Amino acid sequence: MEPLDRLDRPLRDLRISVTDRCNFRCLYCMPREVFGRDFQFLERAELLTFEEIARLARLFVAAGVRKLRLTGGEPLVRRDLPALVALLAEIPGVEDLTLTTNGSLLARLAAPLAAAGLRRITVSLDSLDDATFRRMNDVDFPVTRVLEGIEAAEAVGLAPIKINMVVRRGLNEASVLPMARYFRERGFILRFIEYMDVGHTNGWRMEDVVPAAEIVATIDAEMPLEALPPNYPGEVADRWRYRDRSGEIGVIASVTQPFCGACTRARLSAEGLLFTCLFGVRGHDLRAPLRAGATDEELGERIAALWRGRSDRYSELRSAATISLPKVEMSHIGG
Ligand SMILES: C[S@@+](CC[C@H](N)C(=O)[O-])C[C@H]1O[C@@H](n2cnc3c(N)ncnc32)[C@H](O)[C@@H]1O
Ligand code: SF4
Repeated sequence: MEPLDRLDRPLRDLRISVTDRCNFRCLYCMPREVFGRDFQFLERAELLTFEEIARLARLFVAAGVRKLRLTGGEPLVRRDLPALVALLAEIPGVEDLTLTTNGSLLARLAAPLAAAGLRRITVSLDSLDDATFRRMNDVDFPVTRVLEGIEAAEAVGLAPIKINMVVRRGLNEASVLPMARYFRERGFILRFIEYMDVGHTNGWRMEDVVPAAEIVATIDAEMPLEALPPNYPGEVADRWRYRDRSGEIGVIASVTQPFCGACTRARLSAEGLLFTCLFGVRGHDLRAPLRAGATDEELGERIAALWRGRSDRYSELRSAATISLPKVEMSHIGG
């Protein structure tokens, strides 16, 4: 029986983080002062192996999951990632298999990933302006290489390609319109994400959030928009279509319009901790029982029990009281 949580929400999506490492140091995610040379990333032996991930993924599918998304850190820095994709693509019942990447290694990996069975891809890109992009990734990575990666993904049919842009006040607001124009022309869905207070390292302040409504108004003033209904219950992005039918955008307003009520998502960290909320305080260890020889039945029961006990709705409760709670870092569980 597929479990429901305490607010009657089913488990439908699983985000699997395959590494906590990244070749970028995005200011809002892995600021250098914290994720510097001395930062202790996970050791290789701590990471779930591909076989362990695939075994858990099967059990999550048995518990109701239909959509798998690989993330990180930067998932493409994990060695042999296409081999994991091939294992996941074989699991019956998976309706959607996708990946979120910063795009830096995509030009090389798009073809092997598609060949392994990846169906589509989301690329994070915060600006088309090279100077702004380099400042935000903080490793001086040029935007042209990400654009080449996106082209490579398109060429091998990893479609529909979605582009995620985090908008942070004072950093890349000026990139909103150029990004909208560029991706509208190419027929990609661009999604704007409100800068969130995940983790403890990014020094989040409400003033730095550009509300989704403001982003929509900015675009609408130049390229008129109309609202679209969600594709499915629990979709996190609000959809908007250009009135001239030339495409659509999405806005993910997790700060100003929280959407916990329909959240069907769980997250598995690279070392096998299950988080039932992006703002989870602590994860539940699945690796220990896995490595101690638990049967599929035992592991499946643990997953179901954890989901049944879930009552998280952090974003809706966000307030002075919750803002100081310990939270997991975004780079640890992959957004
Ligand atoms: C943590 S990354 C992991 C996957 C991959 N490295 C990438 O950048 O796409 C997943 C998503 O989280 C977003 N993200 C990271 N920190 C964020 C924050 N503080 N607020 C909103 N989105 C954030 C990123 O922009 C990215 O789209
Ligand atoms: S957002 Fe993605 S690319 Fe940027 S630091 Fe975080 S994990 Fe790396």
